[in-house]
Amino acid sequence: MESNSAPVIIGSDHAAFSLKETLKHYVEQKNIAVTDVGPHSADAVDYPDYAFLVAGAVSSGKYERGILLCGTGLGMSMAANKFPHVRAALCNDLFSAIMSRRHNNANILVMGGRVIGDVLAKEIVSAWMETPFEGGRHQRRIDKFDDMGCPLNGLNII
Ligand code: RB5
Repeated sequence: MESNSAPVIIGSDHAAFSLKETLKHYVEQKNIAVTDVGPHSADAVDYPDYAFLVAGAVSSGKYERGILLCGTGLGMSMAANKFPHVRAALCNDLFSAIMSRRHNNANILVMGGRVIGDVLAKEIVSAWMETPFEGGRHQRRIDKFDDMGCPLNGLNII
């Protein structure tokens, strides 16, 4: 399998602080640089603040890949996907993680620290980082939504 060793940017909220710490060290053990945008304690925070830091860095092209974690993964994925060129995939199972790379070229992996355990999360991170994008017809489909300033542009809203 192809291995992507590009630096990763990671962030969470309080609900997944412990998982973030675990995954940060896990990725570093693969000799991949990790930038941790926080939080740096388990005190309560607002997940959009951290979603914006990671998604902004991926959207701008400064980082190729990011990881976001919250309680369910839902809030982080909703907030991150507001950014152009961000394809944040909520993957609390291995199959979704692999397919998010093969078909969607996901550039942010999102997981829920209150949904899955550390061992599964590590397996998902490994599979996600090692699975290449298949391109072809999948690129054509991504091109249809990847660079839209606003998803409502050009659509007939009933
Ligand atoms: C925090 O309580 C929780 O709402 C957050 O971690 C996340 O699950 C939101 O989608």
